[in-house]
Amino acid sequence: MRNRKIILGLLLAVSCILGAQNKKSMPIYKDAKRSVEERVNDLVSQMTVEEKVLQLNQYTLGRNDNANNMADPVNDIPPGIGSLIYFSSNPELRNRVQKRAMKETRLGIPVIFGYDVIHGYRTVYPISLAQACSWNTDLVEKACAVAAQEARMSGVDWTFSPMIDVARDPRWGRVAEGYGEDPYTNAVFGVASVKGYQGNDLSNPQNVAACLKHYIGYGASEAGRDYVYTEISQQTLWDTYMHPYEEGVKAGAATLMSSFNDISGTPGSANHYTLTEILKERWGHDGFVVSDWGSIEQLRPQGVAKDKKEAALKAFNAGVEMDMMNRSYDNHLAELVKEGKVSEEKLNDAVKRVLRIKFRLGLFDKPYTPNGAEKDRFLLPKSLEIAEKLAEESIVLLKNDNKTLPLTNISKIAVVGPMAKSKWHLLGSWRAQGQSDDAISLFEGLENEFKNKAQLSYASGCDFEGDDKSGFEEAKSIAKNADAIILCLGEKAQWSGENASRSTITLPQIQEELVAELKKLGKPVILLLSSGRPLELNRLDKLSNAMLQIWQPGIAGANPIAGIVSGRINPSGKLSITFPYSTGQIPIYYNHRQSARPHQGKYQDIPSTPLYEFAHGLSYTSYEYGELQPSALKIKKGNKLSVSIAVTNTGNMDGLETVHWFISDPVSTISRPVKELKHFEKQMIEKGQTKTFTFNIDPIRDLGFVNGKGEKFLEAGEYYIIVKDKKIKVEVQD
Ligand code: NOJ
Repeated sequence: MRNRKIILGLLLAVSCILGAQNKKSMPIYKDAKRSVEERVNDLVSQMTVEEKVLQLNQYTLGRNDNANNMADPVNDIPPGIGSLIYFSSNPELRNRVQKRAMKETRLGIPVIFGYDVIHGYRTVYPISLAQACSWNTDLVEKACAVAAQEARMSGVDWTFSPMIDVARDPRWGRVAEGYGEDPYTNAVFGVASVKGYQGNDLSNPQNVAACLKHYIGYGASEAGRDYVYTEISQQTLWDTYMHPYEEGVKAGAATLMSSFNDISGTPGSANHYTLTEILKERWGHDGFVVSDWGSIEQLRPQGVAKDKKEAALKAFNAGVEMDMMNRSYDNHLAELVKEGKVSEEKLNDAVKRVLRIKFRLGLFDKPYTPNGAEKDRFLLPKSLEIAEKLAEESIVLLKNDNKTLPLTNISKIAVVGPMAKSKWHLLGSWRAQGQSDDAISLFEGLENEFKNKAQLSYASGCDFEGDDKSGFEEAKSIAKNADAIILCLGEKAQWSGENASRSTITLPQIQEELVAELKKLGKPVILLLSSGRPLELNRLDKLSNAMLQIWQPGIAGANPIAGIVSGRINPSGKLSITFPYSTGQIPIYYNHRQSARPHQGKYQDIPSTPLYEFAHGLSYTSYEYGELQPSALKIKKGNKLSVSIAVTNTGNMDGLETVHWFISDPVSTISRPVKELKHFEKQMIEKGQTKTFTFNIDPIRDLGFVNGKGEKFLEAGEYYIIVKDKKIKVEVQD
């Protein structure tokens, strides 16, 4: 008995010693049971200035295939680097580099791998501008979740998406990457995509961290030129550009990217007001800001820094925590700390922000990506289904004279145009790991759809540009024998996206001439238009009977497009951006401020209204809108109000209908836009059925305005609630 007690005592003592040793060897930051903040603080307290500075840099790893972002290859990546842009499509290289970070550095801090996963990773779905035309936030969220799953399983922890820059100049190539001209639309879809990418838990091996970009005002690029100056008043900054970011931050976006543009004299990447006072101090964002590619170094040509060191100082002190490919923080930050120009406190705060996201992503606990087979990661049936559905709902039927579409009871179709057999251009810019071989071409989609129903013939007719008309004859000869002509036209993928501005948004003349030639045959002419921006269509409008805006629909768009042509699918997309009558009208957008003389000030040579308005989109069925039914006509400021409208499908086909709810405030302290979108809802309405759509109005949120300091006001007075041509007046009382 006595011996047993001694043995037990000894065992207890040994286990205490072992436990203590274990505690000693397991620093707090490595203990997954500790809170993220405890781990972050512990780790930062152990880091040297040099280790901290390295965490704030991002280089590239692997082959960079983006022409706009070429830089010297980084051959000598320090194991302690904070972040890498990862171009490979499998985790192998990443894991090797991660191993160096974990094993060959003093503290074993994992690298965060980022990449431009913009509209899909391998399963490429429609461009963002098209996605917004679906008015289906659930579908966008699901598509982003697919992108996140494919990317994270391939070694990418963080996507540089969504782009939520309100963009009102379609000459700007990057209009393709955002959700159009409206602040509310950008906010709602930005939030949906943050939710899709991040899910509820960043450490889930199928989720990635999101990045709201480009903070801020990049969409205001003068005359649609890229990388240039933007003139944005404080009022416009707040009422047009800030809202999507504020909502994206509220939705929990882990990171933001600081923009290239100079905002009325202070570049986005050196802007203390937007980056620190608003983002961190007012909105309380606790993640980090990465610069855009080279945007710190570019403070020099922008004229606010004399050299790279000063650029680093300005960007860092303004609130940019991570330097993307500038090599300015790694070269100068430690020195700036030593000189007392950058405080250690600020350095610590920046490092904590980066580490916080790494901890939330679970990178410390699971630094390596399992090396799974491609077939288990990419193009899963469910993913393709989502890509197809999103394409289907993004397509906008712009015009349909005399019910030209759908094509029923016809036996011969001529398919013409340079886009008909192209797969590459359907993917658009920023296709990540997308491959044209994964895509279905428009011709293949039509073949799938019309097999056993109609005979298809094909001729390209012409190239996308140039003046070679030698293919016109062949096109005419197949068209002569057909009952209808489908012309597949549009922009090459590289005509939109970054650094892809155009002085005009017309299609090249050769494409218009091809249409004009074929129109002479007197057959129905249907245009399928693929582009990354709104197009100037006034001439093509006259030359065609029906036009479908198919955008850049991704790899799975062709079948639903063909389904719309045949009538298997009823189109439901509506424009998220105005289609000007001509390039000369730009900028033209629905939510412009009120004019001093609304009935004057028109162009003398062209119409002053757009060819296709924001929210325009036709259906194969018809809808009848009832009257707006408000719950009250007068409310006190603190009360809520709801307005409903009944919509009946009076046609012969079931359809998805989106109701857009606008408000207007005719008299206010500041001149407000003629109308502002505040809510939308999409519902399936079967033929003969009536559905009720409701807008639950929170007066301060939906009727109020923001001033140039970002303060919200709701004034007593009259407001209009508008749906299409229906309008009711409600009064808000003190
Ligand atoms: C520059 C682009 O402006 C930005 O959108 C992108 O995320 C980075 N390059 C990284 O590729």
